[in-house]
Amino acid sequence: MWLMRQAGRYLPEYRELRARHEFWDMVRTPELAVEVTLQPLRRMAVDAAIVFCDILVIPEAMGAGVRYGDGGPVLERPFRDAEDLERLADVDVERDVGYLAEAVRGLCAEVHPDRAVIGFAGAPLTLAAYLVEGGPSRDLRHLKALAYRRPDLARDLLAGLADKVVDLLRMQVRAGADLVQVFDSWAGLLSPDDYRELALPAVRRVMRGLERSGVPRVLYLRGAASHLPAAATAGAEVLAIDQSLSLSDARRIVGPGVALQGNLDPAELLGPEERIRRRVAAMIDAAGEGGYVVNLGQGVVPDLPVAGVEAFVDAVVSR
Ligand code: CP3
Repeated sequence: MWLMRQAGRYLPEYRELRARHEFWDMVRTPELAVEVTLQPLRRMAVDAAIVFCDILVIPEAMGAGVRYGDGGPVLERPFRDAEDLERLADVDVERDVGYLAEAVRGLCAEVHPDRAVIGFAGAPLTLAAYLVEGGPSRDLRHLKALAYRRPDLARDLLAGLADKVVDLLRMQVRAGADLVQVFDSWAGLLSPDDYRELALPAVRRVMRGLERSGVPRVLYLRGAASHLPAAATAGAEVLAIDQSLSLSDARRIVGPGVALQGNLDPAELLGPEERIRRRVAAMIDAAGEGGYVVNLGQGVVPDLPVAGVEAFVDAVVSR
């Protein structure tokens, strides 16, 4: 059991540190990244630490200029044309994101062997969405326009991103990460056909690149209800799902051979503790036979009460 966005703004000790440092400075300073990662572990009996970083490190390393406003990330220099593919090709993960390897090593030294360390990256489609849209989007219209008008360019972008994601995840595994998770947070905005044609080939490329890494590969999908049958063929050992379908339906779709992760609606953590306990118990029962990792369906957001998050963890531990 662990939580997506386990560290972050819902924790007062995070906000306290964040008041004194810029977000990217925290990400790029291994001692700070390790400290932030450990904050939720000191409070809660979670089984794993997900390294403090962000899925947008590759766009940032491309020089996209990623800033976090209240409405989510803003990219000052979005992806526009074939020339931008060169900015992507020029990213050298070891050189430009080496701080992440150092953070993972530091973290492993702190938490092994009692708890696992999770490395992560954004999925190619989700990274392409931020790069092309320049920020969050309700419909991915610019990315879709690119894919329909310039399919060659869209494919090159997705494949190029997939290769950098593989480099980034392999680097974290070499640094000691026990498993890796790929976040496809925007997949749910695609039609099933577009998911199969655009997103899935790039995710397969990522999973193939990690085949020999020896660690479990987790694929997270927001909007899992539409794409789970296709995503189940991507090559991941674990499919992490949001709350758009029940775990029992998900189990029926993927069978007993693939592990599941998820999927309580984080809004449930706003409810009374007694209700949280009931929902957690029902969720664990619904996971059925096969591997299962308890998690939320989406990340913890800044306005969720710490008490609700702690009640969730307690409910799992005491069951
Ligand atoms: O504890 C952890 O889970 C590890 C760190 C982590 C962050 N982002 C830190 C962060 C992880 C795993 C992510 C993943 C991430 N980032 C995703 C995929 C998961 C999902 O929620 O779908 C996405 C889409 C992003 C992009 C992103 N980065 C957004 C939308 C935001 C702003 C909104 C927010 O939650 O605050 C960020 C910034 C960000 N990444 C923060 C943190 C702690 C907040 C930055 C701040 O302190 O101002």
